[in-house]
Amino acid sequence: MNFSKKNDNFLKRTLLLTCISLLFIQCEAPTKKEKTTGLISQKAMVVSAREEASQIGSDILKKGGNAFDAMVATQLALAVVYPVAGNIGGGGFMVYRTNEGKTGALDYREKAPLASSKDMYLDKEGNMIKQKSTLGAMAVGVPGAIAGIFEVYEKFGSLPIAELIQPSIDLARKGINVTKKQARSLNRAREKFALANNYTILLDKEWKEGDKLQFEELAQTLERIRDQGKDGFYKGETAKKMVDYVQELGGILSLKDLEIYKAVWRKPVTFNYKDYTITSMTLPASGGICLAQILKSIEPFDLSKIKHNSTKYIQLLTEAERRSYADRAHFLGDIDFVDVPVDSLTNTEYINKRMRSFSWDKATKSSDISHGKLKGYESDETTHYSIVDPFGNAVSVTTTLNTGYGSKVFVKGGGFFLNNEMDDFSAKPGVPNVYGLLGSKANAIAPEKRMLSSMTPTIVEQNGKLKMVVGTPGGSTIITSVLQNIINVVDYGMGMQESVNSPRFHHQWLPDTVLMEPNGFDSITKANLKAKGYHITERNTLIIGKVDAILVLPNGTLEGGADHRGDDTAVGF
Ligand code: DON
Repeated sequence: MNFSKKNDNFLKRTLLLTCISLLFIQCEAPTKKEKTTGLISQKAMVVSAREEASQIGSDILKKGGNAFDAMVATQLALAVVYPVAGNIGGGGFMVYRTNEGKTGALDYREKAPLASSKDMYLDKEGNMIKQKSTLGAMAVGVPGAIAGIFEVYEKFGSLPIAELIQPSIDLARKGINVTKKQARSLNRAREKFALANNYTILLDKEWKEGDKLQFEELAQTLERIRDQGKDGFYKGETAKKMVDYVQELGGILSLKDLEIYKAVWRKPVTFNYKDYTITSMTLPASGGICLAQILKSIEPFDLSKIKHNSTKYIQLLTEAERRSYADRAHFLGDIDFVDVPVDSLTNTEYINKRMRSFSWDKATKSSDISHGKLKGYESDETTHYSIVDPFGNAVSVTTTLNTGYGSKVFVKGGGFFLNNEMDDFSAKPGVPNVYGLLGSKANAIAPEKRMLSSMTPTIVEQNGKLKMVVGTPGGSTIITSVLQNIINVVDYGMGMQESVNSPRFHHQWLPDTVLMEPNGFDSITKANLKAKGYHITERNTLIIGKVDAILVLPNGTLEGGADHRGDDTAVGF
């Protein structure tokens, strides 16, 4: 009897302990989800922020156009159907890989106007003037998008240019259906639309799902571009409308700024991670360099022994991100203006040395980390689209107005928004931009300089073959969202949609906190991280990104990953 009671107690205790440890094990294990598969297509695919734009891009491919033709058509279609970030008044970056394996990159990032100056956003006391770099005419950088698409077209285009532009003109005129998410976004921006403009703009209304939105003035602007090429934007009527309106509002954009703007072909950042070759954007986008640094930092660790999104996984990525973003803040800026030691920053020995202070026991404090020592020496919206054509060419493009609807300045008579990309400069050392990012002299404002970007359009190859096209919006979180999707696929064997759906987290050195998607991470993992000294912020934020990606499956078919966080859709055939 005695024995059995003792035994009973023992059994109860054992059961309790087993339950507790099972709870722990279960909580630490990746949540068992149904395997989601994205759209599968045999030959070609476009994944973008809106179905209409993906459809227009895909139709171009069906007509025999290549990925570059589809890039032109998709960029313009997004300017119509997704005005929060799609644009002709902004800029972006394209990374490509041809079917012959040649890679390259186009920089069509905005530039600081000729009349800009280092302290243009500071008052007499040297303090930042609230919203001057984000809202209204002074926030506008010289737009690059139209120069970008013509540069792409001249080098690679195959169909007549009018055929690439016409679908967007028709869409603008016919109108788009406002989605639920779009109505919410437009309604939220109304107050700012009114503050930035001196008239009631077309979009300044109370919108609801299913409303029709037509853009007659934008259709006319696109017609001028169709008929006059890039001069239809950078010269003549459109240029005059843009400059007159910006100056009427007290801004500094000039006709000369528009006249001299050029998109630039650049050598992308290419590096190996395990048996993959990764090609991503170079400066003035920080994406490629930071992606290389972070992946190389984690490469020596055996991820097959670390569960996805577990405490250890989050620790490892966070510590690598912390160190890379500290370097970003100090070293990175427009390569045409500042000397950036790109090779040293992506050198494996340097990176391994940076990770020596990492410990599994305790979080490194960001206050104890600064940039590395080298020998000798940002409602927030952007949008990404990924394209693979039937010939095997791949295009990865991230494009933006910076924050949602950019400066909110809507060109009178032109029908489009102008960016507020000037906020991506470091307007004052030590003062973070809208994404909490800090910068140094390397990213100070100067006439004609390009502001540092986090955009990370990326292409992954394996054994000389195209594997993945990936990118996302998300300001400072762009780099870490692209990073996690690469790791999800190459290290954890996820499919494209499964990877895109997977919860994400982010660390950017300062502020010293791990930003996590709410409800994405279990309580034990979060408690473990807190016990090790990590600060956690769970916030439903637009800036965790909307990844639009394409994965080439082993049988050669394509799987789309379209982010459910937005209205993003894959279309293909
Ligand atoms: O270039 C950059 O890094 C920023 N202007 C990107 C802004 C962005 O991604 C906003 N989207 N959520």
